[in-house]
Amino acid sequence: MSQYQVICEQLNQKPKNWLITGVAGFIGSNLLETLLKLNQTVVGLDNFATGHQHNLDEVQSLVTTEQWANFRFIEGDIRQFADCQKACAGVDYVLHEAALGSVPRSIADPITTNETNISGFLNMLTAARDAGVSSFTYAASSSTYGDHPALPKVEDQIGNPLSPYAVTKYVNELYADVFARAYGFKAIGLRYFNVFGQRQDPNGAYAAVIPKWTASMIDGKDVFINGDGETSRDFCFIDNTVQANILAATTTDDAAKNQVYNVAVGDRTTLNELYRAIQVALATNNVQFDRDPVYREFRAGDVRHSQASIAKIEQGLGYAPQFKIAEGIQLAMRWYVNNLK
Ligand SMILES: NC(=O)c1ccc[n+]([C@@H]2O[C@H](COP(=O)([O-])OP(=O)(O)OC[C@H]3O[C@@H](n4cnc5c(N)ncnc54)[C@H](O)[C@@H]3O)[C@@H](O)[C@H]2O)c1
Repeated sequence: MSQYQVICEQLNQKPKNWLITGVAGFIGSNLLETLLKLNQTVVGLDNFATGHQHNLDEVQSLVTTEQWANFRFIEGDIRQFADCQKACAGVDYVLHEAALGSVPRSIADPITTNETNISGFLNMLTAARDAGVSSFTYAASSSTYGDHPALPKVEDQIGNPLSPYAVTKYVNELYADVFARAYGFKAIGLRYFNVFGQRQDPNGAYAAVIPKWTASMIDGKDVFINGDGETSRDFCFIDNTVQANILAATTTDDAAKNQVYNVAVGDRTTLNELYRAIQVALATNNVQFDRDPVYREFRAGDVRHSQASIAKIEQGLGYAPQFKIAEGIQLAMRWYVNNLK
């Protein structure tokens, strides 16, 4: 039995109280689904800035009535300290996902990104410390590696940030570390590498690459690749990310806390390879899209190559990603075809 299976069984037998911020978003709603299916009690906080009621509705449709009754939603804003205090009351484990994602959004509007991702983060960290929660796990980002050329990325070698978004995610790590030193409050940061899967939003100017391309292919519209298509990423299926969060939140190993960990698969896929993988997976779901991609300029702030070393999280938290990119793409495409077509 894997470490993850053991923890899930323990949680099922002895349910805990969880807080998920950003619960109406992509990652937050997937965390919610898994935790409710494990019969946990969950409070969710979201202001619907980029999240959607329909994500919560979908989770409701996937769990039992009893499990759904274990969920309490607070519509609120992490920029308001009182909302964070309210959400943290009586909670064992905090999973802090709420933030404004997207490098281009932060380049267009650094102020709002800063307010949410830095001031909002500090509010949550402070409220969680004051509430005496057992653990605080937060969404960090692979963008923190910035211009550091080394591959694969190892946690203690970072470069200069390439976007306001990257600055905010790095500042989260600095605040978390200082809270451990100043107050003995030990958080865990998870540096996600391009997460994808069911419920990732395909709409809007700042949609991530997989849902954006998938929606275009399903609609029969041109797909644009920024640059020559040889840009590469370590795409990570959502269920691996959920596993990492649950392992981080529940770890009892003190040495594993006040740390940041890469969350990825450890593989590298170019955008050209990704394009073909999506085409093939859509074809198996009866969506034919035979057009070639349209290449255009590289995008400001983007890192050229990204691939994680996952050795630290494997050793520190017992993480073992269950889904490689190909399996994840298959599952994600089935969801998009069912939901967008
Ligand atoms: N998806 C990825 O590939 C990826 C990669 C690295 C890091 N991350 C981080 O993971 C987290 C979740 O990302 P996601 O992909 O699920 O994005 P998402 O946009 O789907 O979810 C973010 C959620 O936070 C909520 N939110 C935003 N501002 C808020 C505020 N002020 N108060 C309360 N709620 C607020 C949004 O409404 C949304 O529901 C974010 O912190 C993001 O920066 C994601």
